[in-house]
Amino acid sequence: MSPQSLTGKYPFSRPRRLRRSDWSRDLHRENSLTVKDLIWPLFVCEGTGVSEEVSSMPGVTRSSADLLVKQAEKACELGIPAIALFPQTDNDLKDEDGSEGYNENNLVCRTVRLLKKEFPDLGVICDVALDPYTSHGQDGILEDGYVLNDRTVEALVRQAEVQVDAGCDILAPSDMMDGRIGQIRSMLENQGHHNTQIMAYSAKYASAFYGPFRDAVGSGGNLKGGNKKTYQMDPANSQEALREVAMDIDEGADSVIVKPGMPCLDIIRRIATEFSHPVFAYQVSGEYAMLTAAANNGWLAGDAVMMESLLAFKRAGATGIWTYFAPAAAGILKDHA
Ligand code: PBG
Repeated sequence: MSPQSLTGKYPFSRPRRLRRSDWSRDLHRENSLTVKDLIWPLFVCEGTGVSEEVSSMPGVTRSSADLLVKQAEKACELGIPAIALFPQTDNDLKDEDGSEGYNENNLVCRTVRLLKKEFPDLGVICDVALDPYTSHGQDGILEDGYVLNDRTVEALVRQAEVQVDAGCDILAPSDMMDGRIGQIRSMLENQGHHNTQIMAYSAKYASAFYGPFRDAVGSGGNLKGGNKKTYQMDPANSQEALREVAMDIDEGADSVIVKPGMPCLDIIRRIATEFSHPVFAYQVSGEYAMLTAAANNGWLAGDAVMMESLLAFKRAGATGIWTYFAPAAAGILKDHA
């Protein structure tokens, strides 16, 4: 049906009629954002009493576990359902193979144990990828400069195993190796972790919007200007995203992620339309940096663009959103509840 045949003709149809007042706009709104849509990514570092701002992400901190507990407490108070942990690993713990990633006493595992003890009802998500642990900053194990797929998957399974043993609720593999979801799912089944979820970064693009994140976890410098194009997706592609999602769901993913967020609203929409699994948007570090920088300069109305950007993900079809704005947005939603 053409759009014309779906609507009346002016002056019998006047779309502005429904927009005339607050109550009417409220009544006819098609999509909404709630605090239950939000996942808050948090950066954790070694030490005690440490809280330092990530320079390219004003308002976002890297905190030692004792202070991260305060952020988890805030998440609970605000009603944010889940947080995600990203570690900044000390350089002397990094090696070629990222072996600290599967040390059961690494920073992430220690933090998960602490958080699950203190906040059993808060969902805790762990990133599965080797980049916080490799001396070269790539997400996997290198041979002649190329990230080996199957050897990396073996290491990722070991990493997932220590994270789930520590008590994490959702594993989120962000590495983009082929076949890793199936291998991780098999490990979980074999170890009796039937209820551990996998939220797969299925459509993760080789994007320049991850820069500030790499500063935050300290992997950017190690990459030395290198890129991740042999495993992350080409931003030119969208059919490929559907193939990746189909494979991950087939291998046992419970839900999928599209990343970055705002540049990929079309991808979110296509996945939401073509699959029945939950699909999450990741509003990444560069998106946060961009909006925050403009707001801090007085060039954009910060709160308004933040809320608009989050609502746009819902309109595109996202089930929920990973965002560094989670506590700020939750605060606004609470005030307006
Ligand atoms: C690690 C990982 C990255 C992000 C999440 N997990 C960086 C990368 O792939 O280089 C990016 C998150 C962000 O930019 O906010 N594999």
